[in-house]
Amino acid sequence: MRKIILAPSLLGANPLTLADDIDRLKNNYDWLHLDIMDGHFVRNLSFGPEFSRALRKRYPDSFIDAHLMTDNLETVLPLFMDSASLITVHAETETHLLHATLSAIKNAGIKTGIALCPPTPLSVVENVFELADLVLVMSVTPGFGGQKFIESSLEKVRELVSIREVKKYNYTIEIDGGINESNIIRAVLSGCDAIVMGSAIFREADPASWLSGVREKIKEAMDFGTR
Ligand code: DX5
Ligand code: ZN
Repeated sequence: MRKIILAPSLLGANPLTLADDIDRLKNNYDWLHLDIMDGHFVRNLSFGPEFSRALRKRYPDSFIDAHLMTDNLETVLPLFMDSASLITVHAETETHLLHATLSAIKNAGIKTGIALCPPTPLSVVENVFELADLVLVMSVTPGFGGQKFIESSLEKVRELVSIREVKKYNYTIEIDGGINESNIIRAVLSGCDAIVMGSAIFREADPASWLSGVREKIKEAMDFGTR
């Protein structure tokens, strides 16, 4: 059976008690999703390289899933190469340089990801899929947590599943934005392998047991699907 990766988005945590918020997850997560915003590619600012390094130091075995919502990749990318486990760049930024960008990430021994904003069709990046370990489908406009899920994103997920099958690619399909208890099962059954959640997790009084409940529901739905 497919393993579903749950990736809490630290943007949804309380910035003043962030380490406590991570500890409250009691290791009941697979990846830590880290949103990097530059106030230019998106209309917000968030975590920087020092934060990412501090995370690596405090949680040395964690898988840091860095989601770069920035321009100026030549400057920004190297800043995260000593701490991130996977670096995702957007299809809409420096599109013409994507082969070189993804190759640079790969050559640094880091896993590669390509993210697409809701209006961007897969055709824009289809010929760089061979360089991608992960394709991230944004299911909200990037920049802020707590937004409403854009339903048509699941169509893009299904397309990714069929392209992967036909072309024998290996990418993991990740979804990010507006995921909660009401749509997570649909996301999994549409083909998402990795699920990012910010507000849905961190608003819980006991996020660790909430995550256990979610895992249980995912398992039931997948068992039912294979029956
Ligand atoms: C939005 C970020 C997301 C955000 C998701 O630009 O990429 O990772 O934290 O937050 P929720 O799950 O609250 O939509
Ligand atoms: Zn993100």
